Amino acid sequence: MKIACALFLLLHLQQVWTDLQYKLCGYWTSSKGFGLPAFTERIILNDVTVFYHDSNTKSKMPCPDWISTTVGRDEWSSIHDWSDYNRYFFTLGLQSATKQFNLTGSLSDQNIYQASGCCTLYPNGTYRVLVTHAFNGKDFTSFDMNTKTFVAAVPQAVLYKHLRERDSVAIDGVAAFYKKSCLERLNILKQAPALLIRKVPEVRIVEQQKVGSITVTCHVTGFYPPVVQVVWLGPDLQPVDEGVTDVLPNEDSTYQTRKSVIVPEEDVGEHTYSCVVLHSSVPDNITRVWGGEKAGGMAVWISLVCICLLAAGIGLVVWWRCRTRDAVI
Ligand SMILES: *[C@@H]1O[C@H](CO)[C@@H](O)[C@H](O)[C@H]1NC(C)=O
Ligand SMILES: *[C@@H]1O[C@H](CO)[C@@H](O)[C@H](O)[C@H]1NC(C)=O
Ligand SMILES: *[C@@H]1O[C@H](CO)[C@@H](O)[C@H](O)[C@H]1NC(C)=O
Repeated sequence: MKIACALFLLLHLQQVWTDLQYKLCGYWTSSKGFGLPAFTERIILNDVTVFYHDSNTKSKMPCPDWISTTVGRDEWSSIHDWSDYNRYFFTLGLQSATKQFNLTGSLSDQNIYQASGCCTLYPNGTYRVLVTHAFNGKDFTSFDMNTKTFVAAVPQAVLYKHLRERDSVAIDGVAAFYKKSCLERLNILKQAPALLIRKVPEVRIVEQQKVGSITVTCHVTGFYPPVVQVVWLGPDLQPVDEGVTDVLPNEDSTYQTRKSVIVPEEDVGEHTYSCVVLHSSVPDNITRVWGGEKAGGMAVWISLVCICLLAAGIGLVVWWRCRTRDAVI
């Protein structure tokens, strides 16, 4: 029954595995007193930087080489041109929030306004948008593209909400962007060769003996892009990490993750367990098997080593006895 469920889960995973998740995000900061540029803007598709600009550099980042199509370059120009509007809106946010929190006056004050706007296309076709603004690290406001309004997270954000909503042309533009244009932009830019890089994961199983059980870990590393599914299959398995495991970056711009399960001691050698890895770099899956014969083999080896040690011990004792007897005679 458990195996059947796991297999069903896996088949389901494989079905959606034909496409990746794409996320196009803009990150903006407007700050004072941190030694940062007064304004920064970064546009990222998955983990590839599409555009960067900050107020300390005179010129904006040139169009990356990997954007080679005409439509791609048009999208990039639009990002480039909007940068000045963004600077205006987020500087307004910083000023408004600083004032509403009564933080003006002191020269040493450090204030930072951070905004992010992301649109995500999931492998199942679902499209989601999240636009949030924070002031000094706390939620300030978010944008609801359906009602075309800013939702104030704190009373101090109401003024900024009104300032933004008063400009109905701009607000319509923002709503239209997140509703439709962001998805179009994402679909155009995702054709980029930079996003087609695939690196196949290395999979290895490590076991750790505990009292009454063995913890078996499936290490998966060296893969790109950073979207992966790791599933353990086998009877009586208990997950160790509550099912959620982080995908962490390696130094060589590949990624790694791991998944551990607990195998009860009485099951060791009785069943086999499989770590199945699904990644867009391989057409079906990478499977590593643990337990069963392998564990049986290990037990045989351990027994052999014990027997050898015992034999050596007996040999030593006999040799010693003989020697001492010789000495006595
Ligand atoms: C800022 O000052 C005004 C006027 O003194 C006051 O009404 C308001 O509550 C203060 N706001 C905060 C966040 O302290
Ligand atoms: C599609 O995937 C997303 C993210 O995993 C999930 O939140 C959403 O519910 C899914 N939608 C459908 C229709 O399966
Ligand atoms: C893994 O892929 C192989 C084909 O290479 C397939 O026969 C097998 O059923 C797959 N395993 C799972 C658990 O999906």
